[in-house]
Amino acid sequence: MAAKRRSVFRCADCGAEHPKWAGRCEECGAWNTLVEEIVERTGRAGGLAGRRVAAGDPVPVRMADVSSTRLPRLRTGLSEFDYVLGGGLVPGSLVLIGGEPGVGKSTLLLQAAARLEAAGITTLYATGEESVEQIRLRVDRIAEDAGRVLALPEVRVDAIIAHAAAVGARVVMVDSIQTTYAEELDGAPGNVGQVRECAARLMRFAKTSGTTVVLVGHVTRVGMIAGPKTLEHMVDTVVYFEGEPASGFRLLRAVKNRFGSVDEVGIFEMTSAGLEPVANPSAAFMAGRPAETAGSAVTALMEGTRPVLIEIQALAAKAGFGTPQRVATGLEHKRLAVLLAVLERRGGYPFHDLDVFVNVTGGVRLVEPASDLAVVAALVSSLTDRPLPADTLFLGEVGLGGEIRPVGAIDRRLAEADRLGFRRAFVSARTRPGGVLELVPLTHVADLGGRLAA
Ligand code: TYD
Ligand code: MG
Repeated sequence: MAAKRRSVFRCADCGAEHPKWAGRCEECGAWNTLVEEIVERTGRAGGLAGRRVAAGDPVPVRMADVSSTRLPRLRTGLSEFDYVLGGGLVPGSLVLIGGEPGVGKSTLLLQAAARLEAAGITTLYATGEESVEQIRLRVDRIAEDAGRVLALPEVRVDAIIAHAAAVGARVVMVDSIQTTYAEELDGAPGNVGQVRECAARLMRFAKTSGTTVVLVGHVTRVGMIAGPKTLEHMVDTVVYFEGEPASGFRLLRAVKNRFGSVDEVGIFEMTSAGLEPVANPSAAFMAGRPAETAGSAVTALMEGTRPVLIEIQALAAKAGFGTPQRVATGLEHKRLAVLLAVLERRGGYPFHDLDVFVNVTGGVRLVEPASDLAVVAALVSSLTDRPLPADTLFLGEVGLGGEIRPVGAIDRRLAEADRLGFRRAFVSARTRPGGVLELVPLTHVADLGGRLAA
């Protein structure tokens, strides 16, 4: 019996299946969550009991008989990209690259495609976002020679797969999954049903042919891959490309990786000739640091397993009328509010009628509490208008009582600061002594001013 196609409508929240579209899911009551899904039926329904194993069906295998030789990874040659992937692209895997528009996803893929082609790995770059002429303009800018890259202006997923098979591509890039569509589905490209169905077909193609498929997915400001959060579960690897548009630095972060660590972060700089891996991020982030300016403090973040030095700038200024402003870039607003309250209540530093601005340089986002002490030091420095010593690092978590707590991976952070010529580090008094730098122990934020003046 021939395969028959039909659709069901599935609730994206609870997964309940409905035969027809409705505005509201009858199961869980959520609104606007039903998405179309294609169901493929082969043969009679309900005939499972009588089914026999057919020729060509997969059969159970003993684990001892499964070869454990690993397929060699396809190196893109962009060192930071390969590093985040865990050593390169795994054949037959599905990779999703998420990021806000303009962050550089297409540029990254075009550069990777050029390098893969140069290594003799046929790569197909399917584009639904830009015309081939627009891509050609980008080709002229990047440092790589992308002349051999095969670009395909196509948005129908089956046509992309057919072309990939026809040219014998070992890597297929789909830019983007939101512009790709399956003709049998009614929804417009970009809706959840389309995105999931296209990703599922590309996944089947990847697994059956051994081709690596790289998908581009746009994320919205809230940081979700637009619409299809479900995509993250389907793919093997999810990497996010982030960075403030105004800054040249871009961070590539693996948030899921079936073939490697999710800790790793790759750092690039967007230049006039495309993305360049940053071999020495600390030095790059420290390069533009102003000398002898109040309100600047340096800390060491762990970006994955690598320590990276970063500058935090604060400015406290007399507020005009009304509620003072609190503006944080690269730091959660709530975290800034907490640290200001702790400084005010526990340290006696009067911030309540001042406008406060905090900026993390390089477009980096602070996620670790280990950087609290540096934020606090930058704030106190700006308040007192006294520059912090340029060769001093700040490492510590600040508690609600004003106490300063030790941070993890302290040795690696201190070693990185030492490598860049730092001499001293303000740390929690509970940090075990030793290490490469002179340590200044602190127990409480109230001690900060005194220790800085000393
Ligand atoms: P793009 O790769 O188009 O971003 P995305 O695909 O994530 O939307 O990158 C867009 C930005 O990068 C654009 O603002 C121009 C800038 N850019 C450079 O600065 N240098 C370059 O060599 C290239 C190709 C782009
Ligand atoms: Mg793009």
